[in-house]
Amino acid sequence: MTGVTIRGLGVSLPEEIRTNADLASMVETSHEWILTRTGIVERRIASATVATSDLALGAARQALANAGVEAEEIDLIIVATVTPDMLFPATGCLVQEALGARRAASFDLEAACSGFLYGVSVGAQFIRTGTYRRVLVIGAETLSRIVDWSDRSTCVLFGDGAGAAVLEPAPEGEGLLGVVLGADGGHADLISQPAGGSRRPASLETVLQGEHTIRMNGREVFRLAVPAMVRASEQVLAQAGLRVADVDLFVPHQANARIIDAVGERLGIERERVFLNIERYGNISSASIPVSLYDAETGGRLRPGDLVLTAAFGAGLTWAAAVWRWTGATGQDRALSRVRSLLEPGTWES
Ligand code: UT7
Repeated sequence: MTGVTIRGLGVSLPEEIRTNADLASMVETSHEWILTRTGIVERRIASATVATSDLALGAARQALANAGVEAEEIDLIIVATVTPDMLFPATGCLVQEALGARRAASFDLEAACSGFLYGVSVGAQFIRTGTYRRVLVIGAETLSRIVDWSDRSTCVLFGDGAGAAVLEPAPEGEGLLGVVLGADGGHADLISQPAGGSRRPASLETVLQGEHTIRMNGREVFRLAVPAMVRASEQVLAQAGLRVADVDLFVPHQANARIIDAVGERLGIERERVFLNIERYGNISSASIPVSLYDAETGGRLRPGDLVLTAAFGAGLTWAAAVWRWTGATGQDRALSRVRSLLEPGTWES
């Protein structure tokens, strides 16, 4: 048992939907521009009383239920986020308390859009070494809180949400088959929230200049994202002794449908094998991959036994890719096998 798998997945997405039309009434943009340049139709926005830890908690509870695990059984909680409730204490500690995960150690991890895969990689090491048995990895964001709602070049892109995964030991060859992580701090300035940290502490001036909001050179990020995601995907497949042809479903970070198209094309993965849900959520950073895996499985696109490739890219710059032999994480497989058993002749009365 040196393998690691996602035993349960959960998501939490705010109810409020902000459409492209809503944004067109706030800044000079249009539904057509947003859709054709990004693939986004709408995004979720957390209500004023909801913070990142609240979304993380909702996703965590569902992930625990789907894994059939009690909060007391969790050994470690890792929250990947760029929008923590506050700079410290860690959002992970707030989740630990609210969840009642009394035995768990907890910390936050900041690798932006690659954060969930970074968290999975860290959690998997603890399980492989036998230090811990159950690790809860959460990607949770309230990006609407750090978006400049008067900047049309960024405000149309981001949304709020959370996805959580319970990692557990699994037989070798099941679950996570390989992970590749990378970073390039030489391009740290391309996406950032410049003020509010030790370099530029919060002041009246930083607030007046809107420096607590996301600043991004979108065109340059786009240019660097495509080759980095392709390279990481190729590396992780090679590491696991697999080929692109073996991949049943590619689940990329959802930042821009054009980035995803370009990555799929360069890898040689046709559209039918690429999962997209950006139209509904926009870019939810660290929550993007767990929410996509959840949607893929509950939507019937991902089944136990499938080979899944995941890849992400974001601020830092950071990137990551992971390849999985999927073992089922939302109870869909159990529900399906129950339906099948009910449909078998002679079992109707049972
Ligand atoms: O999660 C990882 C981090 N983020 C990303 O991966 C984002 C990567 N970048 C992107 O997704 C794209 O670069 C954007 C969607 C941000 C922008 O798309 P683009 O095709 O690169 O557009 P652009 O920045 O080159 O801008 C083209 C034009 C500009 O007008 P001019 O200078 O050509 O007259 C912009 O001012 O589009 C204009 N524009 C807009 N027009 C209408 C920029 N934003 C908007 C908007 N509505 N919302």
